[in-house]
Amino acid sequence: MTGVPRVGLRPDYEISKIIRGGWQLSGDHGSVEAARAVEDIVAFYDAGITTFDCADIYTGVEELYGRGLRHLAKLRGAEAAGRMKIHTKCVPDRDKLGRLTRDDLAGTIQRSLRRLGRERLDLVQFHWWNYDAPGCMEAVGWLGELQAEGLIDRIGITNFDRAHMVSIANAVDLVSAQVQFSLLDRRPAGPFAVDAATHGVHILCYGVLAGGFLTDAWLGQPDPGHDFENRSLVKYRLVIDEFGGWDAFQDLLALLASIGDRQGADVAAVAVRAMLDDPFASAVIVGARYARHLPRLLKALEVTLEDSDWSAIRSLQRRATGPGGDVYELERDATGRHGRIMKYNLNAVGDAG
Ligand SMILES: NC(=O)c1ccc[n+]([C@@H]2O[C@H](COP(=O)([O-])OP(=O)(O)OC[C@H]3O[C@@H](n4cnc5c(N)ncnc54)[C@H](OP(=O)(O)O)[C@@H]3O)[C@@H](O)[C@H]2O)c1
Repeated sequence: MTGVPRVGLRPDYEISKIIRGGWQLSGDHGSVEAARAVEDIVAFYDAGITTFDCADIYTGVEELYGRGLRHLAKLRGAEAAGRMKIHTKCVPDRDKLGRLTRDDLAGTIQRSLRRLGRERLDLVQFHWWNYDAPGCMEAVGWLGELQAEGLIDRIGITNFDRAHMVSIANAVDLVSAQVQFSLLDRRPAGPFAVDAATHGVHILCYGVLAGGFLTDAWLGQPDPGHDFENRSLVKYRLVIDEFGGWDAFQDLLALLASIGDRQGADVAAVAVRAMLDDPFASAVIVGARYARHLPRLLKALEVTLEDSDWSAIRSLQRRATGPGGDVYELERDATGRHGRIMKYNLNAVGDAG
């Protein structure tokens, strides 16, 4: 089997190009058997997926990864656990912005360290909900200080637009920007990606499977509407609307299925392959509660997209009506369709660790 490729975000900081996402373990996507998720971490490691994404606001996930790292150390040795890069986030509550102190921020970092059982965080991806609230660049400066103190190895961001990304990259050594970037959402392709490359900022993509929509499960299905218990489906159904609606989405699914059929791969594998091949994307994050999708996911590494496949994909994308605007612009409007479904103040709630 082809190994999972790797990419250096810096000469001395390398990750797997497929990153396992952790939002799906936070309880908003169906029940999670913690013991099974912990066991499965070894399967991801053995498959060559040695980079995991999580966040301070994904309830229970940092702790779960911490348990997983200890389990991995027991089964594969301390060195194996040390090789795992755990990317977390620092997402101050929206209600706290403007009043955030250095102690608040340092406290969040210390809490992530405790939860993960580590002495230094590999990558902290910073988010700021509201550009109008003062203190964003000051907080970036504090992260830089915590990095200098040795608590953080690398600094990244998530869901900032182009101008803010550039400002932050001018203030600290910004290695990555985690953004929604998929066959359905092309907003980062263009000026954002060009500026990112100029500033040495690697794009890490989420939404690659549109929360599970870009899989065989939805091929040929009638429009399910907008009412889902799974929060990812609520979120990405709106992205499908922006793309042009259910029929346009089904056209894309059918195309990916036909490309996959030729090569014994499913829709998800083709969607992942497409983003692995995207020149603007450094790595793709794929959300998974357990390792059950792994064998089919790894098939992505064997899929080839021919020029004719790309022209068919690009032709469907040209017909798409959106999503438009800068990265995360639609979502940033807290009163809009995309913003209203968001949870903004999870840090205090998830404080228990
Ligand atoms: N920065 C942000 O604002 C942000 C936002 C969203 C996500 N993220 C990050 O990105 C990660 C991925 O989340 P996402 O929203 O982008 O979701 P996604 O990866 O597009 O989709 C995840 C869903 O797809 C399913 N799945 C995974 N592999 C599959 C396969 N091979 N075949 C069929 N189904 C498959 C998973 O199923 P199971 O549930 O069965 O595992 C899960 O329900 C998150 O965990 C998080 O780390 C960040």
